[in-house]
Amino acid sequence: MKLIALWAIAFVLLTGNMVKADEGMWLPMLIGKNYEQMKKAGFKLTPEDLYSVNKASLKDAIVSFGGFCTGEIVSKNGLIFTNHHCGYDAVASNSTPENNMLDSGFYAKSYAQEKPIPGLFVRFLVRMEDVTPKVMAAIKGVPEAEKAAKIAEVSKQIAAEAMGGTTQEAEVKDIYKANQYLLFVYNRFNDVRLVGVPPQSIGKFGGDTDNWEWPRHTGDFSIFRVYADAENKAAAYSVNNKPYTPKKSLPVSIKGVKNGDFAMVYGYPGRTDRFLTSYGVQVATDKTNPAIVKLRDIRLKAWKEEMDKSVDTRLKLSSQYANIANYWKYYIGQTEQLKRLKIYEEKQKQEMAFTNSVKGNPEYANLLNNYKTAYAAYEPYAVHSIYAGSNGLLASTWVRNANNFSRALSSISARKDDQAYASQVNATVKNILADYENTYNEIADKKIFAGILTAFYNDVPKSQHPKFITLIVEDYWKGTPEATFSNYANYLWDKSVLIKPASLKTFWEKPSQEILEKDPGYLFAKNLNSADYVKANFGSILSDFETAKNKLDNIYLKALLENNKGKLMYPDANSTMRITYGQVQNYSPKDGITYDISTNIDGMVAKYQKGDDEFDLPQSLLDAYAKRDFREYGENGTLPVGFISNNDITGGNSGSPVINGNGELIGLAFDGNWEAMSGDIAFDKNYKRTISVDARFVLWCIDVLGGAKNIINELDIRRDNMVAKPNKSTLKMKK
Ligand code: ARG
Repeated sequence: MKLIALWAIAFVLLTGNMVKADEGMWLPMLIGKNYEQMKKAGFKLTPEDLYSVNKASLKDAIVSFGGFCTGEIVSKNGLIFTNHHCGYDAVASNSTPENNMLDSGFYAKSYAQEKPIPGLFVRFLVRMEDVTPKVMAAIKGVPEAEKAAKIAEVSKQIAAEAMGGTTQEAEVKDIYKANQYLLFVYNRFNDVRLVGVPPQSIGKFGGDTDNWEWPRHTGDFSIFRVYADAENKAAAYSVNNKPYTPKKSLPVSIKGVKNGDFAMVYGYPGRTDRFLTSYGVQVATDKTNPAIVKLRDIRLKAWKEEMDKSVDTRLKLSSQYANIANYWKYYIGQTEQLKRLKIYEEKQKQEMAFTNSVKGNPEYANLLNNYKTAYAAYEPYAVHSIYAGSNGLLASTWVRNANNFSRALSSISARKDDQAYASQVNATVKNILADYENTYNEIADKKIFAGILTAFYNDVPKSQHPKFITLIVEDYWKGTPEATFSNYANYLWDKSVLIKPASLKTFWEKPSQEILEKDPGYLFAKNLNSADYVKANFGSILSDFETAKNKLDNIYLKALLENNKGKLMYPDANSTMRITYGQVQNYSPKDGITYDISTNIDGMVAKYQKGDDEFDLPQSLLDAYAKRDFREYGENGTLPVGFISNNDITGGNSGSPVINGNGELIGLAFDGNWEAMSGDIAFDKNYKRTISVDARFVLWCIDVLGGAKNIINELDIRRDNMVAKPNKSTLKMKK
């Protein structure tokens, strides 16, 4: 009796990653298996409409945008919709106090006005393929220590074969913690231009105060276009390029959404960690998350102080600020919700059930115990690893830059007679320099540098302090750690040529290894060279942990896959294309309160605070609002702004289309909600929602505020043709 009950519990708990219509980031290639469920939920197209390699399908209208977001093709001329925060850097870095697109918005009224964005690209997925047998065959009998290298080698080989001399890109990625391998083949386009963007008072309305929260009133969209050569093929930027003719583009519905409507999101979710063990959850909540938040706070405060001083500085810093602020709040929310939803306890229960269910099976019986051992060895160093990483000692911009420079210089000296190589490196360095000049703020960075060293000194266990920290403290002591590191920062700022953009530029005009090696900035930054730092300060503790955890994850997932054979089970996100489907759905954030599915412009204007950083609104919006000029985009006398659905998304999905049962665009996904911030680790069906900007609000901004009829005319707009005005006879029939 007992045993049967345990198996039943195990089964229920271990199916966490399956079945629910709302939960799951499914692989488009295999979506046929979900089709019946989708149909039941209200999807009206065929599986081939979703994903096909033989004919145009929805997948051909979805792009990976810049490698960090998602975009969708919405016209026959390669027009792309994505989020405002996805286009943010492109917009901010092309804005100046005189031509300030970030603050004023911008809509191109002709192709000629569209703005090339060097470095920005989009990728279309050509196909995906399960290559597990090939990879497994290649590693058969290979000793454990050589497996990783062998997998990398065979993956490269498979990708090369798939590209077959074309200009396509291909990569092999593992899913289910290296239990399966998939090949992805892409077409990459490097000529992507900015077409339109609302003022950031709309595009980022609510700022960091509203970020990650519902109810929301952010017009989080921007518009780009992909260009191709005369043959409609991917090509480097050229004035002669033409708008790309896509295989497929999404029609845009202005018919509106209601609670319970089918909704699916198609895009590129970045990373989830749904199979993380309770040990991992505990380290995150107790150690690493709070460390990340504390360290990011140092940067945010220092930048903000400077950003408030001038528009020029604000434009220089706002993109980095937004990025750091976004995940600063993310980690606060994740910690809070992991605790509130008792995810640690939940995982422990699952693990106990798992262990009971595999008793006597030598392959799995010790699995959770082995996790425990691995985490016990790693845990004392968890905080240190954060403080030594990109959130900590490497967070100061000049430090990262200095390391890039010294690497560039030594790579040139290593190939002394290779002129071509030297000029290639030089060109790269010039770009880095220009970027540094455009985005560097000395005053803030100095505070950040000293602030992070101080936090490191105070928070990392003394027994783990690197020698260089101890030496700085001895040599520059000024009574307190804070004064000491600030004293040291003053010294570096005075003596190093690697910090101020101007002196760095002069140095690079006649770079000298000799000068570099005596430079105190270089001598400091050298200590942080990742491999050297790890070796000197952690030995093999971190890599041993990684290796052990990877192996255990692999076994854990193997067991779960065996348990769930024949059932639907989705893999963690890994920046590959996924579909998630469910419904437009309201929710109750807490007892006694229900959140509606949608927000509108009345709520937006109610939040308006003239001149505020986060809640200001452009006059054009206020004027149109005063006249209630909503045109065909309005509904019930107001204008919809945002809506929520129960789709399973994460970072990387930003900009993804929300698609209705007819395959039409109803909104752009841009965020998750506060009550489910634990979502990357555990999906909570009651709370998890996707926040999207309603397509009708997007079109209203373009049309009414932007006056960009040229853009509206490109779209395939689907209006409500069903509810023509009711005539008497139908009214009678209804009764
Ligand atoms: N939370 C959103 C996401 O990760 C980004 C929103 C950007 N806005 C901001 N205030 N930083 O997709």
